[in-house]
Amino acid sequence: MQVSSRRQVVAGNWKMNGDKALVEQIQRHLMVADLKNMDVVICPPFPYFGLFDSKVKLGSQNISQFDSGAHTGEISAATLNEFSCEYVIVGHSERRADNHESNELVALKVEQILKAQLTPILCVGEPENVREDGTLFDYIAAQLDAVLLQVDISQFTDVILAYEPIWAIGTGKTASPAQAQEVHAFIRGHLAEQDANIAAKIVILYGGSVKGNNAQELFSQADVDGGLIGGASLNPEEFLSICRAAN
Ligand code: PGA
Repeated sequence: MQVSSRRQVVAGNWKMNGDKALVEQIQRHLMVADLKNMDVVICPPFPYFGLFDSKVKLGSQNISQFDSGAHTGEISAATLNEFSCEYVIVGHSERRADNHESNELVALKVEQILKAQLTPILCVGEPENVREDGTLFDYIAAQLDAVLLQVDISQFTDVILAYEPIWAIGTGKTASPAQAQEVHAFIRGHLAEQDANIAAKIVILYGGSVKGNNAQELFSQADVDGGLIGGASLNPEEFLSICRAAN
């Protein structure tokens, strides 16, 4: 049973995967699915953006912290706006690791996303050793605080958060519903120290090996408002069954 009154969101992060055939299959599946009570977002590699029907909500997997100019390989908020992209994943652990994105850089990107009136999907989450040594909450708090230093809490009405424990991403090792709920409640409580009203309304997604067979139990936790889906978003049937669990 769904206990949260917040709007449910499921975002598929294709990462560096997918092809034209998948664009077509996903669209076909979404077209017939009756997902009225939620937002479904697809975050494909950039070249596929133009192949999607305008009814599909699109998200970017990255954005530059700069407005425009000599930044080879980067993509600006203005460009994303032109292709009716509405969401931007920011602070994903793979970009933090592969591209050395610090908490401070993530904060600048969130600022850029909000300035362009796009919706950031701001990812936070700990590596396994941090969970084991008991500093999990300090680690997540530091990730949140870097953004709160750059972006006023009042602007968090337009932010979606995603809790993605790094040890659960692409490993098949999902956080238990209780583990996810514990961190989601911590995140909401941490934001509530600055603004309880905004904290109560903010959508917090869970990400990390969400599949059709575990989505329902994860999404039924009080502070879990949907999911950020990697591997399973590449299988249209599986992805749809995850969306149905949130709807
Ligand atoms: P996964 O990836 O679902 O394959 O674990 C989640 C993510 O990285 O967003």
